Amino acid sequence: MTAIRPLVAGNWKMNGLSPSLAELRALKAHVKRKPVPSADLMVCPPATLLARASDVLVGSGIALGAQDCHPLRSGAHTGDISAEMLADCGATAVIVGHSERRTDHGEIDALVNAKARAAHRAGLTAIICVGETEKDRHDSATLDVVARQLEGSVPQGSEATNTVIAYEPVWAIGTGLTPTPADIAEVHGFVRAELGRLIGEEGARQLRILYGGSVKPANACEILSVEDVNGALVGGASLRADDLYAILSTYCGRTA
Ligand code: PGA
Repeated sequence: MTAIRPLVAGNWKMNGLSPSLAELRALKAHVKRKPVPSADLMVCPPATLLARASDVLVGSGIALGAQDCHPLRSGAHTGDISAEMLADCGATAVIVGHSERRTDHGEIDALVNAKARAAHRAGLTAIICVGETEKDRHDSATLDVVARQLEGSVPQGSEATNTVIAYEPVWAIGTGLTPTPADIAEVHGFVRAELGRLIGEEGARQLRILYGGSVKPANACEILSVEDVNGALVGGASLRADDLYAILSTYCGRTA
């Protein structure tokens, strides 16, 4: 079995104006100065910056992702953006089912599934987010919740080349709190086993499972060393090129 190539993806959320493109230029310079050949790097800026970010990142090896898409290709859906439009802007991936969208916009698993299918249709990698709330964890319902979200959100046809799973405990997002390495290992191992059931063992063995929730340079090494953690989805710490690069550098000198 070939080792899974890790991915560090930065999710800028609703942050970033034109001057923020300077962070992308700085990131590009970091990677040029000291490449990290054993891991992939991606940035997901807001939709308003995608086209310009794509221009900045040309030739850098840094991938461009978006944060959401509409399930349909085009049509009368004011304010929405299709996966095809994101691909047209230079994106190669899109986050779907982030907990902030599940909460702010009432997105349910069936919609997340449709968005992931749209991503696949447009040739994008779907980064499908799952994760329990603080109450779920308190009620010992973490694995049940994650299983239900995976079952509902991961479409048929998902495989390592078009899908990434991000396990993001809701209570860890933006709070500075993180689960213990043992807790992360338990959920990631569980996610891989569930994926085996959903998409087949072979596909599940190759698929990247990212951890997300308060990843920063200070804890990246510990978290990214956990078994079955194939990278990170980074929110707050991705806004600064130095921090995102520091997280990526955790993979310096590692083979995978
Ligand atoms: P955080 O966000 O790193 O700021 O906790 C992670 C995410 O929501 O993807």
